[in-house]
Parts: sequence; C-alpha cells; structure tokens
Amino acid sequence: MKNSRNTYILGIESSCDDTGAAVIMRDGKGRGKILSNVVRSQIEEHLEFGGVVPELAARAHVIYIDQVIERAIKESGLELEQIDAIAATAGPGLIGGVLVGLTTAKAMCAALDTPLIGINHLEAHALSARLSDDVEFPYLLLLVSGGHTQFLLVRGVGDYQLWGTSIDDALGEAFDKVAKMLGLGYPGGPAVERLAAFGNAKRFNFPRPLLKRKTLDFSFSGLKTAVRLAAEKIAPLSEDDVADICAGFQASVCDIIKVKTEAALDRYQQEIGAGEIKMVVAGGVAANKAISQSLSEVISDFNGRLIVPPMELCTDNGAMVAWAGAERYALGCFDSFDLAARARWPLDEPSMKVINK
Ligand code: KG4
Ligand code: ZN
Repeated sequence: MKNSRNTYILGIESSCDDTGAAVIMRDGKGRGKILSNVVRSQIEEHLEFGGVVPELAARAHVIYIDQVIERAIKESGLELEQIDAIAATAGPGLIGGVLVGLTTAKAMCAALDTPLIGINHLEAHALSARLSDDVEFPYLLLLVSGGHTQFLLVRGVGDYQLWGTSIDDALGEAFDKVAKMLGLGYPGGPAVERLAAFGNAKRFNFPRPLLKRKTLDFSFSGLKTAVRLAAEKIAPLSEDDVADICAGFQASVCDIIKVKTEAALDRYQQEIGAGEIKMVVAGGVAANKAISQSLSEVISDFNGRLIVPPMELCTDNGAMVAWAGAERYALGCFDSFDLAARARWPLDEPSMKVINK
C-alpha cells in the first residue's frame, strides 16, 4: 500500500534561474516534511544583463545541478537507495534549463531503477501550501511570479481551472522592468519594495488597467509604460523621485490586486458556496509585504483565510517540486522516459489530469 507508509521524494527544479534540489517525506496521513532544500541562485550570473539570459541559465544549471542534488541528499540524511521516486520540473520554463533538470532526473531514475515523475512548475507552486500549511482542496490560488500572474481554482491534484491571467507582463516581470528603468538592478521586486517605503505614493497617479472591466485578467504593460514616461519627463531622477515612483507604482499594483481579488473571491463564494474561503498566494512576488497586506484586507472582508507559504517555498525551489511529486506518487501517477520538456504548459490542460493507476 503506497499510502500507508512514509514516502521519500527527491525534487529537482531548473526552469528559470534557480537550481534547486530537495528531499521531502510524505507520511501515511498525507502530511509533508522537508528533509533538505538546497537552492543555488544564479542572480550573480545575470546581474549585469538586468534579467535572466536563457543560454547562461542553462549553462549554469549544468554546472550546479550535480552538486546541488548531492548536497540535498546529504543534508536529508538518507541514502539514495531510500528515495522512492524522483520528481523534476518538465515545464513550463526556459527550455534549456528544464532539459538539464529533467535529463538529470531521467539518468538518475535509470541508474537507480526509481520511478520518474514529471512536474508542471505551476502545479508545484499551486500545491506548495499543502506542504507548509496542510491546506485542503478546494482553494483559490493567486500565483504571482516573474513568469506568471494567475488566479486558479485548485480543486485537486491535476485539477485546475484558470480564472484569470495577465494578458501581457507578469507582475514580477513588471517589478523587474520598472526597477531596470530606474537603475535598481535585478531582481527588481525587493528593491522597488524597499524604496517604496520611503516614497510618496500620491505624487504620481499611475493607471490601474482593466480595473473597471469585470474580467479576472490582469494587464501591467500600460502601467509600466506610464512609469517610464513619468520617469523620462522628470529625468534626471533624484533619490526622492525614484522612491516616489516606486511608491506610486506599488500603490497602483496593490489597488489592482485588491479589486481583482475581490472579484475572484466573489466568484469563489458563488461557485464553491459553503465552507471556509481559502486563498493561497504563491510565487516570488508574494514576498511583497504591501501586496500581502492588501490581500489580507480583502480576505478578511470575506471572513476567509489567507495562506502565504514561507518565502523559501514561494520562490522557486526543489521542495515544492518534490511535494508535487509526492502528491502524484500517492495517486500512482508516474511518467515514462519519453516525457518531453516543455517551454509552454498551461495548468488547465487535459495533460495535467491524474489518471489513477
Ligand atoms: O517565483 P520566483 O522566484 O521565480 C519565478 O519567476 O518563477 O519569482 C521571482 C519574481 C521576480 O520577478 C522578483 O522581482 C519578484 O518575484 N519579487 C518581488 C519581491 N521579491 C521577489 N516582487 C515584488 N516585491 C518583492 N518583495
Ligand atoms: Zn516559479
């Protein structure tokens, strides 16, 4: 019986600029524990380019992946032979990096005669709150990272419904681009948040795109352009100017997030009905305190529960991949070595469905 004992899963993440490996344990009751979680960030490699360079990222994954996996196994206190399955991100992401992680996983599975589980990176984000906070299905997920900005209804493992998405830039990407135009370096989110705290949010009245429309979709490119035009108009920028722009941009983002979340919770209430309203936020942008504060305000109006997993689980990491692997393992859902790496892989695709074996 797969479900009645502890299972140990190695997870490998390499879809963007973090090389991650982790070992987690899932007990017979479905509770998870992180035994190790090693992340080698490539921020330094991409710093001078102001963003992730795919080819450099792929090469860096090749260099780091063996040592990151080795450390994850060592820190877990387990022997390789005790691992029940190896889960690796199979997409979506930068294809070179995804190939490095997935091929490494396949080679290890072949050598160890261990099952392979290919993970959709977005599913790993979507399920991470069940590892940290034991959250039961269903729940509303707001995924806000450098690559995605989406509302998803999470009904079960492999069972996701996309409610809204950004029609242009992802929110993290918008933070990064604003930071780049203000000369704040990469990644931009933390720098913009830090400076916003000193700025006057009312000096610039940046737009709040798509707010009046009923859609749950987002758009950030108009806001980004408004920031660029404002900055160009008053250049050269003083420190106060930069702080005021950061504060104005972040205030606009918070308003957008608030109104869209209100609409998403309204829909959740109508469609899911009885029971506690649960909302999970995942992805690197969840680190932003002004945004999470706005979300808590909205969710408290609905008497709901807001779950923000710890930051090391929100940003890209191997533990969330291992956990998604553990959830799929418990349902007997494995992959063959034919599994292809994918640059694009929407979560609400039929290929995500778990076919219980
Ligand atoms: O989830 P993540 O680590 O990587 C993926 O994109 O999958 O997210 C990284 C993104 C970057 O765009 C970064 O600027 C943003 O998350 N970010 C933040 C903050 N910390 C990280 N954005 C706003 N405020 C922050 N404090
Ligand atoms: Zn991610």
